[in-house]
Amino acid sequence: MSQSTDWWAAARAQVLLNPAVTMLNTGSFGPLPRPVFDRVTKLRLDLAAGPTDFFVRQAPPVLWAARERAAAFLGTRPGRLVFTANVSAAINLVASGLQLASPGEILMTDHEYGAMVWCWERVGQRQRLAVRTFPLPTVPGDPGEVVDAAVAAMTPRTRLFFFSHVLSPTGFVLPAKELCAAARKRGIVTVVDGAHAPAMIPLSADDVGADFYSGNLHKWLLAPTGAGFLVVGPGNEDRLQPLHVSWGYKTDKYPLGETTGGPGPDSRDAFGSTPRVRFLEFEGTRDICPWLAVPAAIDFQAGLGWDRVRARIADLAAYTRRVIGGTGLRLATPAAPGLHGAMTAFELPPGSDAVRLRKAFWDRRIEIPVVERPDRLLLRVSHHFYTTEAEIDRLAAAVREVVVR
Ligand SMILES: Cc1ncc(COP(=O)(O)O)c(C=O)c1O
Repeated sequence: MSQSTDWWAAARAQVLLNPAVTMLNTGSFGPLPRPVFDRVTKLRLDLAAGPTDFFVRQAPPVLWAARERAAAFLGTRPGRLVFTANVSAAINLVASGLQLASPGEILMTDHEYGAMVWCWERVGQRQRLAVRTFPLPTVPGDPGEVVDAAVAAMTPRTRLFFFSHVLSPTGFVLPAKELCAAARKRGIVTVVDGAHAPAMIPLSADDVGADFYSGNLHKWLLAPTGAGFLVVGPGNEDRLQPLHVSWGYKTDKYPLGETTGGPGPDSRDAFGSTPRVRFLEFEGTRDICPWLAVPAAIDFQAGLGWDRVRARIADLAAYTRRVIGGTGLRLATPAAPGLHGAMTAFELPPGSDAVRLRKAFWDRRIEIPVVERPDRLLLRVSHHFYTTEAEIDRLAAAVREVVVR
């Protein structure tokens, strides 16, 4: 389904983008569409004007509605969905609570997000587990190559397998369901870092079948900063401890209200959660408006049409490969359908200077990350539906000017 340039220009006009900047970094932080900004601002006004009424009376049903909408969008059930500030918080929640059998090892790919590698290194130190990475095939034509590499790396000592659904450096979409199935068969716990998956690719967290699936809503869904989540997979309900002990900790006590919908840890409570969810989610008084605004973010892109958005992203991926590839940079993201989404990366020539390049792109008001890999630098282009061909052309012109060969 292809839409006219004018149609996409009208969609773009609803996104709060600085017109002076070529924004090619949704992969780090997404901008807000005007209706999402208006929704979160209205919520914050209500909070500012009557905080007690907001937290005690207004927010709970809105939080439950947001949980239901987010769960349906992410392909899970509301009682499994814990809202977090971001994917880092979700992964830390798992990493700090999960007890793994020692001795043993935590396994991950060699393309994981640096801060999350540190998170698992700390688990390794605390629980006396080794942390081992295995090399991913970089640009495979077939997802089976990735599963084979992962299976070959799993050993009887492997306690936990951590991987990104969409790799941060390159945008390569891993076969998450197959990877989780392979780990499960070997009794290995799976933790998926889905930072980029929601709204970039079709996602059903339950279908992925991870023990723990985490993600961000502030990137591709264009929800406000402060919206992330953890989906707790079946059989894992009692394995975690909250990062903060607060009023959700003693699940049989409800200092501010009564449960509704019957007793039990999975029944809806008076706070917009369930006792089991609140145990992990409630961290004391905090700004939950980003969570409450998630339905507005879902509505915005659903209004454009997910099929249209995905088709637009695929067109832009092809355009980016052609135009940036045309500058002579080598593609670092698989071009095969299903193996990439809305990020396309290119290798920078050996000897490139990351600091100089970052400055040179920003001097031209191009917002784009230069990603440092152990063996090379990558230029990672994010192309959401609001990206224009003219912006990719502008990047290509800048690459010709600033990249030294
Ligand atoms: C794969 C991956 N994991 C984790 C993160 C951390 O995201 P946040 O800072 O929103 O927690 C990112 C951020 O870009 C990422 O790309």
